[in-house]
Amino acid sequence: MLLKNLSLYNYRGYYKQNIAFGNRVNLLIGNNGSGKTNLLEAIYFLSLAKSYKTEDQNLIKFNQDFARIKTTAIDKDLQYKTKIIISKTKKKIIFNDQEINKLSNYIGQINVVSFLPEDMNLIKGPPKNRRYFINSIIGQIDKNYLLELSNYKNLLKQRNQLIKDLSEEKKPDLTLLDIYTEQLAKSGTIIINYRKKIIANINKELKSIYPYLANNHKKFIFNYEPSIEKNLEKNLKTNYRKDLFIKTTASGPHRDDYSFFLDDIDSKAVASQGEQRIMILALLLAISSIVETIKKTKPILLLDDVFSELDSLRQNKLVNFLNKSELQTIITTTTTANINQTILNTANIYHVENHFIRGNNHE
Ligand SMILES: Nc1ncnc2c1ncn2[C@@H]1O[C@H](COP(=O)(O)OP(=O)(O)O)[C@@H](O)[C@H]1O
Ligand SMILES: [Mg+2]
Repeated sequence: MLLKNLSLYNYRGYYKQNIAFGNRVNLLIGNNGSGKTNLLEAIYFLSLAKSYKTEDQNLIKFNQDFARIKTTAIDKDLQYKTKIIISKTKKKIIFNDQEINKLSNYIGQINVVSFLPEDMNLIKGPPKNRRYFINSIIGQIDKNYLLELSNYKNLLKQRNQLIKDLSEEKKPDLTLLDIYTEQLAKSGTIIINYRKKIIANINKELKSIYPYLANNHKKFIFNYEPSIEKNLEKNLKTNYRKDLFIKTTASGPHRDDYSFFLDDIDSKAVASQGEQRIMILALLLAISSIVETIKKTKPILLLDDVFSELDSLRQNKLVNFLNKSELQTIITTTTTANINQTILNTANIYHVENHFIRGNNHE
């Protein structure tokens, strides 16, 4: 899928802004606070009908009543028009001239894969970040995963409540706990299998992507660390005593984690900022490729402030890689000083200043 254009009205600091995008690399250059992240956030919003960092109402320009985001995308010669109107109390989505009643029917029409500055916490931050990340990636690829995940969460809540009640009793009757545990194990096993499958595919892709971007021969493995590897039901059952003692379900897919291994060393403690960035970028590019295979269309890549901490060689490699893989990418940066002119010539360049965009946006 390709975004042909974007039109913003009273969105964040923008008043009225139209921008036409090129099919490959689009570079938005501007100083801090000029409106670059805000623009990427608008595209993200078109994809998921929510912002990754704020409530809807904060997207409305200060002192205005509503904001509007519009886009035309194309995929295999078909046009997809989206208009989103955000008011203080609700949002309205109009897709191909029809109002959307159920958000879940709309989400996923426009596929984006994004790198946000906060993703830099992925490697060294808490497991929750990694779980959230992988859950949203698998959910983007297969909505059934999200349904299963919500089923699992409900069962877990139910089970935890029961455990709390039972822990108060001297001689707890475990019949109901057995039933809840079996249900939880069944759902959890489905979730673990989804995760195993995507992680295996990711690692296949990383084999070629990482060495190219990093410009070295280190082996990067994105590792799945399930809290319970196999035989979920049996393991959950042997944990009864512990669960009753701590009054919750101690292990299971809700406690899974992932790690980033570089030449068999866990990066958590050792990787430099630049190395982490390359690993995360390689991971996102691997995911883009998987999304493309499954959705049969390329996702749109949003890369926010991606060049910082990368040396000139790797900045150029990244843009080259994007060109070669023919991904439509929107990159924000404060400077392109480290990028070769020949490579810059292949990109569409835009300058952002005070929420106003100049560039080849009128082509
Ligand atoms: N609802 C809003 N109305 C007007 N301005 C806003 C709104 N939300 C954020 N801004 C402004 O946007 C600016 C940040 O823009 P941002 O896109 O994050 O900058 P950058 O170019 O550094 O990525 C801030 O100066 C902030 O005041
Ligand atoms: Mg920014």
